[in-house]
Amino acid sequence: MHAYAPQSVVAPSRGLEAEAEALIRQLADEQRLARDEAEARAREVRRDISVTGTYTHTERELTEGARIAWRNNVRCVGKFYWRSLAVRDVRRLGGAATEEADLFEALVEHLREAWNGGRIRLLLSAFAPAAPGCPGPRVWNSQLVRYAGYRRADGSVLGDPAGADFTEAVMRLGWRGRGTAFDVLPVVIQLPGREPRLFDLPPDAAPEVLISHPSYPWFEGLGLRWHAFPSIANHVLELGGLRYTLAPFSGWYTCAEIGARNLSDTNRYDMLPAVAHGMGLDTRRDRTLWRDRALLELNVAVLHSYDTAGVPIIDHHFATKQFVRHENREFRSGRGCPADWSAIVPATSGSTTPVWQRHYEPTVLRPNFLPLPDPWVPRGDGEA
Ligand code: ARG
Repeated sequence: MHAYAPQSVVAPSRGLEAEAEALIRQLADEQRLARDEAEARAREVRRDISVTGTYTHTERELTEGARIAWRNNVRCVGKFYWRSLAVRDVRRLGGAATEEADLFEALVEHLREAWNGGRIRLLLSAFAPAAPGCPGPRVWNSQLVRYAGYRRADGSVLGDPAGADFTEAVMRLGWRGRGTAFDVLPVVIQLPGREPRLFDLPPDAAPEVLISHPSYPWFEGLGLRWHAFPSIANHVLELGGLRYTLAPFSGWYTCAEIGARNLSDTNRYDMLPAVAHGMGLDTRRDRTLWRDRALLELNVAVLHSYDTAGVPIIDHHFATKQFVRHENREFRSGRGCPADWSAIVPATSGSTTPVWQRHYEPTVLRPNFLPLPDPWVPRGDGEA
């Protein structure tokens, strides 16, 4: 999976002091703070950096900065809601004195707060950022809740093929799953300079939805399910020159992410042949458009199932309309709307949505969320 389209232009960081000052200036501008207040803050930050090599964000810098980072992200169609992101300050966790178990507890708490009894909240938890001589805490998982993929001898995978490398890595660390197609993976926590440690999530931290179809009773028999909401864990929040290497971000799903990617991609759960079979479609020739018809019904099933379970999810038509509203609002505020067209256009029915005909510049501004390398993959250049 590509994290960023190749044409994205990621501006290089200008360094700690310059990025810190740019953040302070931007916040002062956007929030119409008094000029001398911003200048005093910039002086204070310069002094902290010269004495300690780093500085500490105020609550406001952290919260407003994380919101702007979301707004700047070029791959998210849900940015309309950027102002409502809630930020949990858990910066006390992640430094050298942290116990992995405490950090895990805070991650579970993050999932519970994001789930919010079924009324999913847009939530980010900021753990300790990297500091001089201390690279910052990591979670190895791409998302806090994800399914295992077990490679079989014949090369096929039971479960989610996207999780196969990670599953092998946790099995090398001693984990054993139940061996179903939907085993929730353990959370792997690695503190700077320590060995990774594994933790199993309690079931209430990983709510799931069973997938059924409003008019095909056989659909349930496919045994499909998905976790209620995504919690991205492998992106660094780059904010004012500081790197928050652990800043899990939860929101709600768009149905196409599950129906038109996770459950249907040929290198994921690859369910279209089974759905088409259930529908009695002729799968011998591409021209019968059996894939397209099965894909549509799979998306119908995902929406229906989340709706029935009372779990918030949006469809791609609503999502893209909101995105265009966001874009217009941004232009009215005198800003642009950097975006990566290939990530904004939904994976199904792209041309029926208003974003199809639009043009976007995928410029990666700061602050932002940038993908981190998988920690278990050797870099091949002698570095661990
Ligand atoms: N596409 C990813 C997934 O299927 C989640 C990415 C974030 N999506 C979101 N709706 N916040 O799990």
